[in-house]
Amino acid sequence: GTPFVHYRGEELFVEEVRLADLARAHGTPLFVYSRAAMLSALAAYQRGFAGRKARIFYALKANSSLAILQVFARAGCGFDIVSGGELERVLAAGAKGSDIIFSGVGKTRREMQRALEAGIHCFNVESEAELEVLSEVAAGLGQKAPVSLRVNPDVNPLTHPYISTGLKGNKFGIAHKDALRAYRRAAALPGLRVVGIDCHIGSQITQVSPYLDALERVLDLVAAIEAEGIPISHIDFGGGLGIVYNSESPPAADVLWQRLLARLDARGYGDRQLMIEPGRSLVGNAGVCVAEVLYLKPGEQKNFCIIDAAMNDLPRPAMYEAFHQIVPLKQSATKPVTYDVVGPVCESGDWIGRDRKLAVQPGELLAVLSAGAYCMSMASNYNTRGRPAEVLVDGAQAHVIREREDVADQVRKEKLLP
Ligand code: LLP
Repeated sequence: GTPFVHYRGEELFVEEVRLADLARAHGTPLFVYSRAAMLSALAAYQRGFAGRKARIFYALKANSSLAILQVFARAGCGFDIVSGGELERVLAAGAKGSDIIFSGVGKTRREMQRALEAGIHCFNVESEAELEVLSEVAAGLGQKAPVSLRVNPDVNPLTHPYISTGLKGNKFGIAHKDALRAYRRAAALPGLRVVGIDCHIGSQITQVSPYLDALERVLDLVAAIEAEGIPISHIDFGGGLGIVYNSESPPAADVLWQRLLARLDARGYGDRQLMIEPGRSLVGNAGVCVAEVLYLKPGEQKNFCIIDAAMNDLPRPAMYEAFHQIVPLKQSATKPVTYDVVGPVCESGDWIGRDRKLAVQPGELLAVLSAGAYCMSMASNYNTRGRPAEVLVDGAQAHVIREREDVADQVRKEKLLP
């Protein structure tokens, strides 16, 4: 995926740091991230919109570890949050309220209030009912909440159904045909101030055309809304750009921007304030998960390679049948065997990779690649497994950014009966 995760001789490195050294020092499973890989992914977006009024709002659901948020905050990113918890994380990482936009179909009054107190840049509102509640909450604080409506452009993002969100018939956004009415309502409500429009059509999108289709539909709406005297100052394209897990060939972020900007210019919207909310494409290929081979279990139909990372650490294969490359930390010349790579959790769904050719022995180490996005942030404690430690590599330096969770951490809020 990136030049920042690479073999040097036979051994796998992240930047200048040998992964085997990190595994020895901090144990496994262990997430390791490259700071340079994140900044390089960010730079591709920034190159793409250079000279325009545009800003990136990192969708931290992809990876919300504080030090990672710090990396993006220091690089000038804003943040797309989806909960009060994410709001507190972003503020703790040093961002300001004005750097934050708030997406999500189910914001509570409490979350709205806290976000208004923090002075966030914009609420991405997903229903007419939410407009009413937000207006009430804002008016109660003597404020006018800045709002953008997430419209559902009804285009097919050509990705996995579980992560496609811009089609009719899913819970996200306001239907295209209802959007004008919703904008009229928003403009009339006392506690709201219309500032923009947004859409988000799905995730792991590997083609430009769905973005352009969505853009056309959104621009049609902008024209209609502004014709009614409601100015739209920003246009937000949502997130969703895919990464290479295996053999995909997604457009580079700067190429995506070129195509979007060309279309915006052609329709006379190129000088608007533009926003984008990428998650996966900023962090996905910046991270790996290092695991140790516990047992090899030959079988009649399948051989199993049982590792110490599991579906609680790396939930994407179990949830989406997602593919992650699995490679040895030390390349070997011995003949590979085909294994299903599985974890210790008591579920048949607990697999990390199927039919993988590996030359490994118990005690040796593997890296699950492309593990920077939607792995740690979706990790759980199922089977009372502590969530892994995380290390951020910066050149030859390695910073522990999260310690491994132990059982005491897990039971801290629990109470025994009297
Ligand atoms: N904006 C909104 C409103 C979103 O719902 C999402 C992701 C993003 C931005 C960021 O999308 P990205 O650039 O990361 O594709 N857990 C799934 C992915 C779920 C995506 C949810 N929404 C996975 O592991 O594939």
